[in-house]
Amino acid sequence: MIVVKKTDEMKKKVLAWKKKGKTIGFVPTMGFLHKGHISLIKKARRENDIVAVSIFVNPIQFLPGEDFASYPRDFENDEKVCEREKIDVIFSPAATGIYPEGFSTFVEEKELSLPLCGRNRPGHFRGVTTVVLKLFNIIRPDTAYFGQKDAQQSLVIKKMVKDLDIPVKVKIVPTVRERDGLAMSSRNKYLSGEEREKAPAIYKSLKMAGEMVLKGERNAFKIKKRVEKTINSATGGEIDYIEIVCPVSLEALKRIESGALIAVAVKIGNARLIDNIIVKTPGKGIRKGKS
Ligand code: PAF
Repeated sequence: MIVVKKTDEMKKKVLAWKKKGKTIGFVPTMGFLHKGHISLIKKARRENDIVAVSIFVNPIQFLPGEDFASYPRDFENDEKVCEREKIDVIFSPAATGIYPEGFSTFVEEKELSLPLCGRNRPGHFRGVTTVVLKLFNIIRPDTAYFGQKDAQQSLVIKKMVKDLDIPVKVKIVPTVRERDGLAMSSRNKYLSGEEREKAPAIYKSLKMAGEMVLKGERNAFKIKKRVEKTINSATGGEIDYIEIVCPVSLEALKRIESGALIAVAVKIGNARLIDNIIVKTPGKGIRKGKS
């Protein structure tokens, strides 16, 4: 495994692999790798000749006042994880390697980026699409891997790839959870012991929503109210949103007629946690595992 910090050097390596006809699988990350990242890496490892993992805490996807400075970082451990998973290259550029002085071009998806996390984090997805396109251009992957936990991010990136004819296949990998259901996230580190005990209620409330649909409830408002009540009473967290939307367009649904994405964002202590499940009405089968 090699660690590359310079963009030009990374491009040269990529060119050499391409010349040899190697396929490249790419897992973009902000580091502090956990089992969620590892499941993306393992899939990339199974499916490609070369696996590249980027570790870059992207400043432009954080809003002023958000946790850019305190975002957890542990490069030493990340290196060990990548070594263990037999990846070929960690690309870990400095901020100036990605955004050199005078950088003035940004990529903005203008529909799927607006609801859910986009509402209270304006500019966040613009930061994500800009860095991901830039990383795609440097690494030139055949396939890139993203987690379903960040459902909206995955959809926004897929849309960017489609709209801009970017020659990469985007694969979405199921959410990995702790034993008690809490979705794996680097931000779980911010939770105190007491908050950590409360946090699994987020997924419990989503599962309960899935069961309501399974039992015949179609009214999105009623389901949202139940989720809200559960999260409020079990976590005391600050709910950013609870949304029931079309899993393709992210348009809000009043009634769940076939499939829906039920997505939440909750701030517990210093951790803003997001999670989601996809539900299908009975007959079409509820994909409980595919959350
Ligand atoms: O999901 C993340 O960790 C980040 O948003 C990504 C895709 C690595 C872009 O910085």
